[in-house]
Amino acid sequence: MLTKVLTAFLLPLLVVAYTDPLLNNKTTPALNITAISAAHGSSVLECWQLEQFSVSNTPGTVGALAVNLGNASNATYSIIQGRTDAGLHNAPVPQLVYFATGLIRLSIPNTTQEAWVTGGKYGLIFAQDTPDKSQYGHLTEYVADEDTIALTVPLAPGQELKHKVLHSGGCTWREVAGL
Ligand SMILES: *[C@@H]1O[C@H](CO)[C@@H](O)[C@H](O)[C@H]1NC(C)=O
Ligand SMILES: *[C@@H]1O[C@H](CO)[C@@H](O)[C@H](O)[C@H]1NC(C)=O
Ligand SMILES: *[C@@H]1O[C@H](CO)[C@@H](O)[C@H](O)[C@H]1NC(C)=O
Ligand SMILES: *[C@@H]1O[C@H](CO)[C@@H](O)[C@H](O)[C@H]1NC(C)=O
Ligand SMILES: *[C@@H]1O[C@H](CO)[C@@H](O)[C@H](O)[C@H]1NC(C)=O
Repeated sequence: MLTKVLTAFLLPLLVVAYTDPLLNNKTTPALNITAISAAHGSSVLECWQLEQFSVSNTPGTVGALAVNLGNASNATYSIIQGRTDAGLHNAPVPQLVYFATGLIRLSIPNTTQEAWVTGGKYGLIFAQDTPDKSQYGHLTEYVADEDTIALTVPLAPGQELKHKVLHSGGCTWREVAGL
């Protein structure tokens, strides 16, 4: 696994923005993402509903739908070789992970819980099963032949990702893609 730590620059405000046909005068939907959380000392997969999209007035993305994800402290850009089994591990800190490419299988050991993430448009997840909250952590397998490009963005200390839990288990395609 080749990891390039780009830098420890300040990311004061992290915004996900995209222009989509969702943009009409109806109520905007909320952004839903799969989260690896923890309960009773074990990791769990959940589907989280973040805040509703709002219409951006930031120069450069004016009119786009945007959700503010809070403040982050640094970011790491990684290139993970195809067909890598990262094995059992915990999230080191609560962090957003954006998979730009690849096909990723997340699962929880000794359970039937699994979630698939397709790199690209719907490639954002959140992981907070830190060692203090989860004894064993979770499993990550990069099953595609191609490399996976991942951007890992820890939240700034003390920050939490505002969310409500829609249900246990990863989000369905319908929930992330708004179909
Ligand atoms: C995020 O960082 C900006 C710039 O440092 C600050 O103005 C803002 O209050 C911070 N937001 C939160 C929720 O901490
Ligand atoms: C939303 O409403 C505004 C004001 O009524 C209108 O100008 C605009 O075209 C509408 N946008 C869409 C996508 O319908
Ligand atoms: C990035 O931020 C996280 C969370 O604040 C921190 O634990 C980690 O040490 C930071 N990494 C670097 C390289 O600064
Ligand atoms: C899974 O279950 C086996 C058998 O009960 C146990 O030995 C092992 O420690 C468990 N592993 C994890 C990661 O929970
Ligand atoms: C997120 O999930 C809610 C509840 O199922 C749904 O109403 C909403 O449309 C979803 N958001 C997107 C972008 O699909």
